[in-house]
Amino acid sequence: MTSDTTAANTHKNKQTALITGASSGIGAALARQLAAHGWNLALVARNQERLDLIAKDLHRQHAVSVEILAQDLAQPAAAQMVHAWTRQHGITVDLLVNNAGAGHSGPVIAAADYAYERLIDLNITSMTELSRLFAGDMAGRGRGQILNVASTGAYQPGPYTAVYYAAKSYVHSFSLALDEELRGTGVSVSLLCPGATATEFSSRAGKADLTSAMPAAQVARAAVQGLLRRQRLIIPGFGNRLVIVLSKILPGHWLAWMVARIQKPLLLG
Ligand SMILES: NC(=O)c1ccc[n+]([C@@H]2O[C@H](COP(=O)([O-])OP(=O)(O)OC[C@H]3O[C@@H](n4cnc5c(N)ncnc54)[C@H](OP(=O)(O)O)[C@@H]3O)[C@@H](O)[C@H]2O)c1
Repeated sequence: MTSDTTAANTHKNKQTALITGASSGIGAALARQLAAHGWNLALVARNQERLDLIAKDLHRQHAVSVEILAQDLAQPAAAQMVHAWTRQHGITVDLLVNNAGAGHSGPVIAAADYAYERLIDLNITSMTELSRLFAGDMAGRGRGQILNVASTGAYQPGPYTAVYYAAKSYVHSFSLALDEELRGTGVSVSLLCPGATATEFSSRAGKADLTSAMPAAQVARAAVQGLLRRQRLIIPGFGNRLVIVLSKILPGHWLAWMVARIQKPLLLG
């Protein structure tokens, strides 16, 4: 684990957002939007060089404090290490954004032994532990917000990317439950459900890039607007809202059949 501090503690009076997966895509776009709204930032991802560039850029543009931590969140006890790092650096996290995520594509029976282990450790275990640790701190202070990044895929079974969609269903269910448990504490949990977004996600997951994908900046704008209103469910774009409404109406087996017809040519060629 390595850490670095860029212009730390220059804005002690401002609120701080900790964003995981902030080195690219939606996480980096969220960092830009929040910095523009005056938030200090604590950015976590594996790629230290990228985090460094983003931190310097945001500090220069918006005069906010940006601290970075290069950490693999799929490692055992990663969430505890992140939590300890914030304490060591005197960072009070007012907003936790659990954005880091990764996919995996292909038929389940073609996957290697433990192929899904890191996906589950990152998308489920670390998100759960980070939420638990920081929500506890926030509840103790009587205020705070958590934004968990799920997907429109949380509402459907996802043949050929089955474990990823199932993990996002977990994020969805866990976030609603945690939000209810925290009722009356001053802490709220919001859920962001983007559809296809133009990031590095598809290529990293071995998927074809989608031509109709929404820009990450648009997703981040919707997320920040929703957070400012303490909206519990944030779905960027009319098309994605329609997908979710239909997914709630149609039987699960129909959805699986339809998603398979869309995913198979994209994922398996
Ligand atoms: N793109 C889409 O179509 C889409 C749609 C719906 C939901 N989402 C969700 O949106 C979130 C962000 O994804 P994105 O589209 O912005 O993809 P992305 O550009 O690939 O960004 C993923 C981020 O997560 C970080 N990350 C990946 N593995 C990590 C690990 N083991 N430990 C720490 N950080 C890790 C990456 O940074 P490093 O490589 O530096 O670690 C990167 O900053 C994910 O939760 C994803 O499931 C994406």
